[in-house]
Amino acid sequence: MSTHENLQTTAGATPPKRSRIGRWIAIFVALVICGIAGFAAFAWRPSIPEVPTPAASSFPPELVARGQRVAAAGFCASCHTIAGGKPLAGGYAMKTGFGTIYSTNISPDRENGIGAWSEDAFLRAMHEGVARDGSHLFPAFPYDHFTKINDEDVRALYAYIMTRPPQSVPNHPNEMPFPFGIRALQAGWKLLFFHEGRFVPTAGKSVEWNRGAYLTEALSHCSACHTPRGLLGAELESRLYDGAPVDGWFAPALNASNTTPVPWTSEELYSYLTAGVSEYHGSAAGPMAPVVHELGELSPDDLHALVSYVESIGNGDAQIAQVGPAVKAALKANADDLGRIHDRDGRLFVTACASCHYNGNRINPSRPDLGLNSAVSVDDPSNLIHVILFGISARDGAPGIVMPSFARGLSDQDVASIANYLRTTRTSKASWPDLDKKVAQIRAERSVASK
Ligand code: HEC
Ligand code: HEC
Ligand code: HEC
Repeated sequence: MSTHENLQTTAGATPPKRSRIGRWIAIFVALVICGIAGFAAFAWRPSIPEVPTPAASSFPPELVARGQRVAAAGFCASCHTIAGGKPLAGGYAMKTGFGTIYSTNISPDRENGIGAWSEDAFLRAMHEGVARDGSHLFPAFPYDHFTKINDEDVRALYAYIMTRPPQSVPNHPNEMPFPFGIRALQAGWKLLFFHEGRFVPTAGKSVEWNRGAYLTEALSHCSACHTPRGLLGAELESRLYDGAPVDGWFAPALNASNTTPVPWTSEELYSYLTAGVSEYHGSAAGPMAPVVHELGELSPDDLHALVSYVESIGNGDAQIAQVGPAVKAALKANADDLGRIHDRDGRLFVTACASCHYNGNRINPSRPDLGLNSAVSVDDPSNLIHVILFGISARDGAPGIVMPSFARGLSDQDVASIANYLRTTRTSKASWPDLDKKVAQIRAERSVASK
C-alpha cells in the first residue's frame, strides 16, 4: 500500500530536474534534425543525366560565332584559362575571404570538363549556379550576373564551348577551410543574396542603352570588380559601382564618386575600353587589361551600347565643362615641378618619371598625365605602386607601348616618396599612410606570384 502510495506521489510530483533537461535536449535535438533535414531538402537539386557529347557539326556555324562573342563579353577565358594553359581547361586561382577557389575545366572533355553536360544542365549552371550533378557552385563563378543572360545567348555559349577542343586536364581541388567548402551551404547564401531571373529592359530608355545595360550587368559583370562586397562576399547593392579592391589592385568607382578630375565622357570611355588607353585617363592595366582584350571581340554597335550605359552610371557627358579647367590645373602642376628641384622627392620624381610624363603645355595621350590619372587620386595607392614597380607591358594599356618597370632601380622608400609627392602635388586629398610598407608588400606579393 505504502509502495503504491509512494509510486503515486512520485508520479504526481514534478519530475526531477534531470529528466526535464533531458526533455528539452530531446526537443532541441529533434529541432536541429528537422532543421538539417529541412535545409537539406531545401538545398537539394537533382542531378541531370549525362548525355553523349554533341557532335561539333550539330551546331549551326552562326550560333557558334554568336557564342564566341558572348564568351568574350562574359570573359569566360579570363577565368577559365591560365597563362600558358590549355584553353578553357580551368585552374585559375581566385583568392576569397573564404579560401582559394579554382575555376574548373569547361572544355568538352567528358571526364574533366563538361562534355557530358546537356544543354539543360548548362542552362541551369549559368542561370542558377548549380552543377550537372546537382551541387551548388560558388559565386566566384559570377552566376549572380549570368542569371540575367537570355536563353538564346546561353545556347550560343553552349554551342561555342561544345565545339572547342576537349582538354584532358584534371580539376584543381579548392582550398577552403571548414565549413566554407560545404557546397550545400551555398543554398543559404543564395537565399540571402541571389536573385534568379533574366535581364528586364528598363522602360523609357533607348534600345541602345538597354543593350548596354544587358552587356554590362548580365554578361560583362563589370560590377563584380567595381562594387564593394559585404562580409559574406556578395556585392553591396547600396554601393553599386563605388569602387573596390580586386586581386591586390583597386577598381575605381564608375559612378559620381569617381575621383579623377576629368569626367568619364562617352568619348573617354570608348577610347579606354577599346584601345586600352584614353587621352585624359590613361591606361587599362592590371586586372582591367584582360577585360579590354576580350571586349575587342565585340561588334562596334555593342561597344557603343556598352559605353552608352556605362557613361550613364557617372553622367560624365553632362560634366564636360570640367575638362578644360582640370587639364589646365594638371599642366600647371607639371610646370611647378621645375620649381621643386631642390626638394628630394620632387627631384626623384622629375628624374625618374618626368622625362616621359612631362609634355610641355599639352597632354600626350600615350603617356598619361599623372595629375589626371585615377592611380593618384583614389584612396588606395595600390595601382600607382604596381605601375611604378612593374610597369605596363606592350600587351596591356596602349598596345605596343611600354611603361618601364622600376622594381630594380628604386627602393621601397623611393617609390613611396614619388607616390607621396604625386599625391600631395596633384590632389588635395589626405596623404596615403604607411606607403613604404605597402610598397614592400606589393613587391613581395608580385615576386612570389611570378615565380
Ligand atoms: C570571375 C571568374 C569567372 C568567369 C568570368 C567565368 N567563370 Fe565559370 N567558373 C568560375 C569558377 C571559380 C568556377 C568554379 C565554381 C565552383 O567550383 O563552385 C566556375 C564554374 C563554371 C561552370 C561549372 C563547371 C563545373 O564543372 O561545375 C561553368 C559551366 C562555367 N563556369 C561556365 C562559364 C562561362 C560559360 C563563362 C563565360 C560566360 C564563365 N564561366 C565565366 C569562374 C568564372
Ligand atoms: C576583373 C576585374 C574587373 C572587371 C571585370 C572590370 N574592371 Fe574595370 N577596372 C578594374 C581595375 C583593377 C581597374 C584599375 C586599372 C588601372 O589602374 O589601370 C579598372 C579600371 C576601370 C576604369 C578606369 C577608371 C578610372 O577612373 O581610372 C574604367 C572606366 C573601367 N574599369 C570600366 C569597366 C567596365 C565598363 C567593365 C565591364 C565591361 C569593367 N571595368 C570590368 C577591374 C575590373
Ligand atoms: C620611358 C617612359 C616612361 C617613364 C620613365 C615613366 N613612365 Fe609612366 N607611363 C609611360 C607610358 C608610355 C605609359 C602608358 C603605357 C600604356 O598605355 O601602355 C605610362 C603610364 C603610367 C601610368 C598610368 C597607369 C594607369 O593605369 O593609367 C602611371 C600612373 C605612370 N605611368 C606613372 C609613372 C611614374 C610614377 C613614373 C616614375 C617612377 C613613370 N610613370 C615613369 C611611360 C613612362
